[in-house]
Amino acid sequence: MRPRVELLLSLNLVSVHAAPQKPGNGLSYINPLIGTTNGGNVFAGATLPYGLAKASADVDGQNTGGFGLDGSNVVGFSSVHDSGTGGNPSLGNFPLFPQICPDDVLDNCSFRIGDRKLHYVNGSVDARPGHFGLQLESGVVANMTVSQHAALYRFTFPKESGGSKSHPLILLDLTDLWQSRQNASIQVDDKSGRMTGNGTFLPSFGAGSYVMHFCVDFFGSSIYETGVWVNNRAGTEPKEVFLTRGFNLFFLEGGGFVRLDPPSDGTATVRMGISYISSQQACQNAQREIPSPLKAFDSLVSNAEKAWEEKLSPISVKGGGATDDLLTSFWSGVYRNMISPQNYTGENPLWHSDKPYFDSFYCIWDSFRVQHPLLTILDPHAQTQMVEALLDIYKHEGWMPDCRMSLCKGWTQGGSNADVVITDAFVKNLSSTIDWELALDAVMADAENEPLEWSYHGRGGLHSWKSLNYIPYLDFDPYGFGTNSRSISRTLEYAYDDYCISELAGGLGRRDLQAKYQGRSMNWKNLWKADQTSLINGTDTGFKGFFQPKYLNGTWGFQDPIACSALAGFCSLTTNPSETFEASIWQYLFYVPHSVSSLISLLGGDDAMISRLDFFHTSGLADISNEPVFFTVFLYHYTGRPALSTERIHQYVPASFNSSPGGLPGNDDSGAMGAFLVFSVMGLFPVAGQNVYLISPPFVEGISIRHPVTGKTATVRNVGFDASYKNVYVQSARVNGKPWTRSWIGHEFFTEGWTLELVLGAKESKWGTELKDRPPSWSVSS
Ligand SMILES: *[C@@H]1O[C@H](CO)[C@@H](O)[C@H](O)[C@H]1NC(C)=O
Ligand SMILES: *[C@@H]1O[C@H](CO)[C@@H](O)[C@H](O)[C@H]1NC(C)=O
Ligand SMILES: *[C@@H]1O[C@H](CO)[C@@H](O)[C@H](O)[C@H]1NC(C)=O
Ligand SMILES: *[C@@H]1O[C@H](CO)[C@@H](O)[C@H](O)[C@H]1NC(C)=O
Ligand SMILES: *[C@@H]1O[C@H](CO)[C@@H](O)[C@H](O)[C@H]1NC(C)=O
Ligand SMILES: *[C@@H]1O[C@H](CO)[C@@H](O)[C@H](O)[C@H]1NC(C)=O
Ligand SMILES: *[C@@H]1O[C@H](CO)[C@@H](O)[C@H](O)[C@H]1NC(C)=O
Ligand SMILES: *[C@@H]1O[C@H](CO)[C@@H](O)[C@H](O)[C@H]1NC(C)=O
Ligand SMILES: *[C@@H]1O[C@H](CO)[C@@H](O)[C@H](O)[C@H]1NC(C)=O
Repeated sequence: MRPRVELLLSLNLVSVHAAPQKPGNGLSYINPLIGTTNGGNVFAGATLPYGLAKASADVDGQNTGGFGLDGSNVVGFSSVHDSGTGGNPSLGNFPLFPQICPDDVLDNCSFRIGDRKLHYVNGSVDARPGHFGLQLESGVVANMTVSQHAALYRFTFPKESGGSKSHPLILLDLTDLWQSRQNASIQVDDKSGRMTGNGTFLPSFGAGSYVMHFCVDFFGSSIYETGVWVNNRAGTEPKEVFLTRGFNLFFLEGGGFVRLDPPSDGTATVRMGISYISSQQACQNAQREIPSPLKAFDSLVSNAEKAWEEKLSPISVKGGGATDDLLTSFWSGVYRNMISPQNYTGENPLWHSDKPYFDSFYCIWDSFRVQHPLLTILDPHAQTQMVEALLDIYKHEGWMPDCRMSLCKGWTQGGSNADVVITDAFVKNLSSTIDWELALDAVMADAENEPLEWSYHGRGGLHSWKSLNYIPYLDFDPYGFGTNSRSISRTLEYAYDDYCISELAGGLGRRDLQAKYQGRSMNWKNLWKADQTSLINGTDTGFKGFFQPKYLNGTWGFQDPIACSALAGFCSLTTNPSETFEASIWQYLFYVPHSVSSLISLLGGDDAMISRLDFFHTSGLADISNEPVFFTVFLYHYTGRPALSTERIHQYVPASFNSSPGGLPGNDDSGAMGAFLVFSVMGLFPVAGQNVYLISPPFVEGISIRHPVTGKTATVRNVGFDASYKNVYVQSARVNGKPWTRSWIGHEFFTEGWTLELVLGAKESKWGTELKDRPPSWSVSS
């Protein structure tokens, strides 16, 4: 039952115990199957960093990312996927399915999903960077790997089921994982077996539709016969089919097939090119990247391994006795951080540009907090291209996305959080090639221009935002339309987004704009209801003062502060829409990242903030499975008690993260959960949009990170580390040998390659407690 990759890992780990880790040794720890059950929705298949081609088996169980280790049936093998997302299964277009037709009769083969689905042999799953393989219960072994825009499959047919005499069939199904196809067509070339075609599909969490093109070639044996299939019947004439949605949008199943002469070694090799431009480009991509398919499999796998090794190479970990489970979670988290966004440069049919084009920003509401900050550290080159892509999207579509997939606008969850991504890049001097004036235009479009349709870009309620300084409950907004809920969470997010704009404007010398947006960044205070209480099952929690919805006329509305928490039920855009998004008022209480000191004052001081945080984290109100919780784990730093942040993260990491298939607490969200684990282990938590990392001792003896641009190596090292985590309290700290009393540090740590030493002890100390040593907070008087 245990996937083969885990055996490989335990073998590798033997040597790791003996010697401290060497740089670049992360590859052997990666387990792509983490998060493939229990709602992690992780993509487990083969991909290059940010690759467009992502090959895996697709199942009929947990299949949002294609494959799930939940014991469900395999329905096909497909070449494009997203990773970790929620909602509808994403992509999985044009799956292939190999089989032997009983008695070698075409009509005896199974075509529809319901007929052809098949379990895999337990324990046969072999997932590692650049490779995915399993054996179907039919005996067919499927192995797959990828280049940037193409996938290569090897289907090995069993000898005993007539594999040596039968003519194996490989079908292509004109569908995707959630059967969103509108229409599609396929042509099969009788001589070569080449299949080309396209389909129009719907984005899994967005508006509009997209067209995808494919080009499939067969190698390893000559073509026996070809044709198309519709429903459960196939024929060798005609050689093409055009499918639509019929009566009541009924979903018709169909596609093409090829049967091969018995391959001498039992293996059919299939190459699939993908393009968003044309099927000709899909063929060209495949031919250019995989010119010799019969010889290419192993070298593609090793190319992928090298590409991943290179991406991991800035990091080097000294475990100091930390468990293999923790190290596996750590390295796999780094790996998953670079699966998406996906590099669609050269594959954007929407506009011509010399800028990079990235897609699958899925969603920025999840990724702005820790995923993009981690990319900024480990792969500033890629993060720069992603920022440039966001700005190019603004230039051609008028707004940056809050979410985007498959060339389509994704639904906005909170604010316009690309503003935070842009500012985070600016305050960390990400790159001098970014056009910062264009960036200022882009973030100001979010802040100033309300689009007619604001459910997929920009912000809603801007008229009220500017005149009333909050987003009203049941706002009257005849200027634009969107899901008119979330007035509290939108107020909080817009406020922080505006703060980020003020930082960018200030940095560009625009003092007028800086002051204007600083002012707006304090709008969150307008929803503070000082006498609001919170009851759980009729018992007063004893806390007074919460955010509450406020009508246009200034009268308070009401939302129970525990509503939308794990204690009271889920709220999303269309599920139980409420004044907070996917989290409670209790959770959003803590979302004032730019002005935590003001929040602490409102609550009544440090101790009041600490009791709020403690209650939140221990009452079942905190939801570790969703991104808003991340910052709250480390918020104790702002009360002068960094030790309490450390205690908190030492509860969450062992309780909610491990290296098993169910080892993530919720959706990985394109790597966001993984990035949270990575930063927690590293002991530096980024406050996205600010040049601030909150310091807490790493879960390992030390971590070094070589900056890919400056080449300098930053090191954080525990002095007195013990892997049983009794000594987790910082007694004193040094940076480059000099005392460091602040509980936070800036990005210069990484770019300049500083060394941070943390002397540990078994009890909380005075370190980081003084006002001057707390992380920065902006306030009106400052
Ligand atoms: C394979 O595993 C699944 C669940 O993971 C189980 O239901 C099934 O019985 C197993 N099959 C065999 C042949 O052991
Ligand atoms: C295969 O098809 C033939 C002809 O239709 C039929 O006689 C035979 O029973 C089928 N075999 C199986 C195993 O279904
Ligand atoms: C192909 O996949 C099978 C099943 O997972 C695995 O045992 C085998 O090692 C893989 N072959 C290659 C060349 O990776
Ligand atoms: C296919 O479907 C799309 C989306 O519904 C539509 O725009 C397009 O015209 C259709 N194409 C054909 C050839 O019917
Ligand atoms: C899809 O393929 C059909 C058939 O070759 C072709 O007529 C159509 O133009 C293609 N659609 C797109 C968007 O390229
Ligand atoms: C994205 O793809 C383009 C075109 O292939 C390439 O030039 C660029 O370096 C890629 N970006 C990254 C971060 O790999
Ligand atoms: C960014 O550049 C400025 C000006 O050179 C410098 O003062 C600042 O320290 C740099 N910030 C970072 C995070 O490297
Ligand atoms: C509230 O009461 C219900 C019913 O008695 C109980 O199931 C639930 O656990 C209680 N919730 C809390 C947070 O105490
Ligand atoms: C403000 O509007 C709300 C909602 O329409 C209403 O219930 C309330 O009575 C109004 N308050 C005043 C003072 O008019």
